[in-house]
Amino acid sequence: MLESMRIVGGKPLIGTIKISGSKNMALPALAAGLLTEEPITLTNVPELADIKSMMELLSYIGADISQIDKNTVSICTKNVKFLEAPYDFVRKMRASILVLGALIGRFGSASVSLPGGCAIGTRGVDLHIKALEELGATISLENGYIHAQAPRDGLIGTDINFPIVTITGVENVMMAACYAKGTTRLINSPIEPEVVAFADLLNKMGADITGHGTHIITINGVEKLHGTEFLIIPDRIEAGTYAVAAAATHGEIFLENCNYDHLSGFFSLLQKTGTCCKKKDNGVLVGKAKSQETIIHSLEVETAPYPGLATDLQAQLMVLITRCNGVSSITENIFENRFMHVPELVRMGADISIHGKTAILKGVPKLGGAHVMATDLRASVSLVIAGLIAEGETVVNRLYHLNRGYEDIDEKLRKCGAILERFCV
Ligand code: EPZ
Repeated sequence: MLESMRIVGGKPLIGTIKISGSKNMALPALAAGLLTEEPITLTNVPELADIKSMMELLSYIGADISQIDKNTVSICTKNVKFLEAPYDFVRKMRASILVLGALIGRFGSASVSLPGGCAIGTRGVDLHIKALEELGATISLENGYIHAQAPRDGLIGTDINFPIVTITGVENVMMAACYAKGTTRLINSPIEPEVVAFADLLNKMGADITGHGTHIITINGVEKLHGTEFLIIPDRIEAGTYAVAAAATHGEIFLENCNYDHLSGFFSLLQKTGTCCKKKDNGVLVGKAKSQETIIHSLEVETAPYPGLATDLQAQLMVLITRCNGVSSITENIFENRFMHVPELVRMGADISIHGKTAILKGVPKLGGAHVMATDLRASVSLVIAGLIAEGETVVNRLYHLNRGYEDIDEKLRKCGAILERFCV
């Protein structure tokens, strides 16, 4: 049975949405549980399909996982059984590749299935592999698996240059380098908040990492890491998604727990379209400027590594500017196939043409409800937002994509006035 969502559009969203913990920080944090035999307890972990997939993989490897409450998880990997991540786990969730760095760092050996491609692009892991080889690992690719073996005396720290910014690539190597002899410098590192927070977690576990938040992260290897407790940071992509929903429906939403600084660039873009984003004590208030009730100013923007426009917010922002007062453009520089929401939006009446990496949008006065198909996590939520602003009824099919990254999205939107319901087809 496949799940769909029926949405009746046209209502402004007004209310408060509590932002959950970051999926993309919680995933490496769970993998870091493999770095020590002592338990680590993570709080503010979002209840999501991807988190469940990572916990299933860790349990297979031998971790003892306790779900203390809805958003608190404790992991103990004192008794690891397998140093591997089989294809069945990795094909479901690419971030499973994050166990590679932890396993080879602590145990000196790992066999992890290659993730294979995904809807939004080839998403290679060649940079993960190359970096581990530079730390001294011997890596062979056989039957779709990465077999990695550290030297007998352990990995050896070195300078590693990344030709492109890779989030999980650097997170993987950071974990391996925690146990490498000597100093490792990761050059051209990402400065995304999730990577910074992840380095903070590793340091709380006894690692010796500096420079996170700059483009050169330095790791001095240590003998042992220990258990700790850690609060997962708020999910800036979830927050940005609901900020767009407020702007696009001409409503007003208080994003409770949203860290304004993690989205300051994005809020500036929303302000350019005529939306107010006000920093408050424990969150951000996003809503249409009274004087600009219905005007959505056009934008020309490109996705880029942080602090640029997050590729994970590209589809959502596109929905907002489908009704801009002029011509807008969005260029997707990170992934080669992340415009799969475009044909669906065009079916709802958007005027969008693709020219290479750039989508050109000619503003239209309205979108019309339609049956549409979700193709990946962020495209699925962009279609939900489109349904919230379209005239009439929209049905979004293949909703399982949505369950991967948006905790309690139905309740959160309904509390702000959205008319929606799920049903099975
Ligand atoms: C992380 O994916 C995020 N996932 C993605 O979020 C996010 O879109 C992406 O970073 C970019 O910000 C997690 O953090 C779990 P990359 P990741 O390595 O690490 C190429 C979501 O919706 N590349 O930063 O897999 C790659 O193909 C997800 O929450 C190589 O070529 O992305 C891409 O074009 C989707 N070889 C670019 O680099 C490599 O070895 C950036 O990829 C590694 C990456």
